[in-house]
Amino acid sequence: MLAAGTVVVITGASSGIGRAVGLAFAHRGARLVLAARSAEALSQVARECTAAHPQAEAVAVPADVTDADAMTGLADTALARYGRVDVWVNAAGVGVLGRLDAVPPADVLRSWEVNVLGTLHGARAALRVMRGQGRGVLIDVSSVLGGAVTAPYMGAYAAAKAALVVLDEVMRQELIISGDHDVAVCTVLPAGVDTPFFQHSANHTGRRVRTLPAVATPERVARAVLHTAARPRARVVVGPGARLLPWAHALAPGLVRGLIRRRTEHGYLGAPGTAPVTTGTLYAPSGATAAVSGDRHAAARTAARRAFALAAAGAVGARFIAARSRTRVRTGSPTHVRIRPRARVGIGSPTHVRIRPRVRVGIGSPTRVRMRPHIPARRLSRRR
Ligand SMILES: NC(=O)c1ccc[n+]([C@@H]2O[C@H](COP(=O)([O-])OP(=O)(O)OC[C@H]3O[C@@H](n4cnc5c(N)ncnc54)[C@H](OP(=O)(O)O)[C@@H]3O)[C@@H](O)[C@H]2O)c1
Repeated sequence: MLAAGTVVVITGASSGIGRAVGLAFAHRGARLVLAARSAEALSQVARECTAAHPQAEAVAVPADVTDADAMTGLADTALARYGRVDVWVNAAGVGVLGRLDAVPPADVLRSWEVNVLGTLHGARAALRVMRGQGRGVLIDVSSVLGGAVTAPYMGAYAAAKAALVVLDEVMRQELIISGDHDVAVCTVLPAGVDTPFFQHSANHTGRRVRTLPAVATPERVARAVLHTAARPRARVVVGPGARLLPWAHALAPGLVRGLIRRRTEHGYLGAPGTAPVTTGTLYAPSGATAAVSGDRHAAARTAARRAFALAAAGAVGARFIAARSRTRVRTGSPTHVRIRPRARVGIGSPTHVRIRPRVRVGIGSPTRVRMRPHIPARRLSRRR
């Protein structure tokens, strides 16, 4: 549980996961420094955060994560205003869709600048302060894509997210060597999340993203981030079924790769010519399209998934009970009769059973039949 007054710096706080994380911390009375490029959206988030809890405070600092000095300035703002940095969340990021030989090198480079260097600039600024104060939690938002699996058309992005996993691992090793045992570096790996991420992604496929696998709500990722801040862990995978994905990939890599390849090619992306080629928010702030949620209706889909799982569990349970309450009886004739064990077991004569067959056995119209079934004595004694 995080104490009110916890000082948290968040990059990418104007939209999606970063914005949800800001609001979640604010609801617990945190004091926030919020960064992204969209000044207006950021001010709006700061207002919402301040209103979320009597002790919550928030300051908006428009900044581009690719500017190392701006990230140092962010840490300085937190120190000047609140005196320390308890938690730093690097959530700023941008996607790039397109075949690796079709995405212009400039866009690949820019996406790596934002996703890798931008995160590293934030990490360096955070660690400088946290090492100085002897404690703190750095949380980098990577992705299951790149961190655990790969997918076609997302090569540049996945490579950047894989790089974060490596950089975080190295930072953890270096913190151990330097004896900074109370400074934690955590990597959060979400699977699909319902944010405006794909709306903001550069797209060189000319195909629209028409559907996505089961998506998590940004609030779910925010809860995972809060939990990680309170109980730091090296790697945290978030999303429906996402925790199984790395295991499945390790056990059957060809199968998982083939599944992702086919789903991406034939399911997630529309036909060629259904989307304009765009650089998304690689070079410009998201501005008016910044929002917590995207248009994937994750909350409704989550509710539908849960209802389906519940119904399936109910159906399986009902079948199980029904199966237990029936006994297959082999009569003297080759006919097999399923009976309900409303059948009374004849006391004193454990092999005789009075049964009411559910199917006709061809003796006129028998509603009650006496027969000598081959029921193992063991089962009979249990039933008694
Ligand atoms: N959505 C998913 O399915 C998913 C899955 C796994 C991981 N992730 C990761 O989660 C993180 C957040 O993404 P999201 O889904 O919340 O998408 P989003 O709604 O598009 O949010 C991206 C955030 O990053 C900020 N940003 C982008 N470029 C920036 C720059 N150069 N300098 C400063 N801020 C910048 C954006 O703000 P401005 O535009 O205002 O600068 C925005 O606040 C990303 O790292 C993404 O890779 C997302």
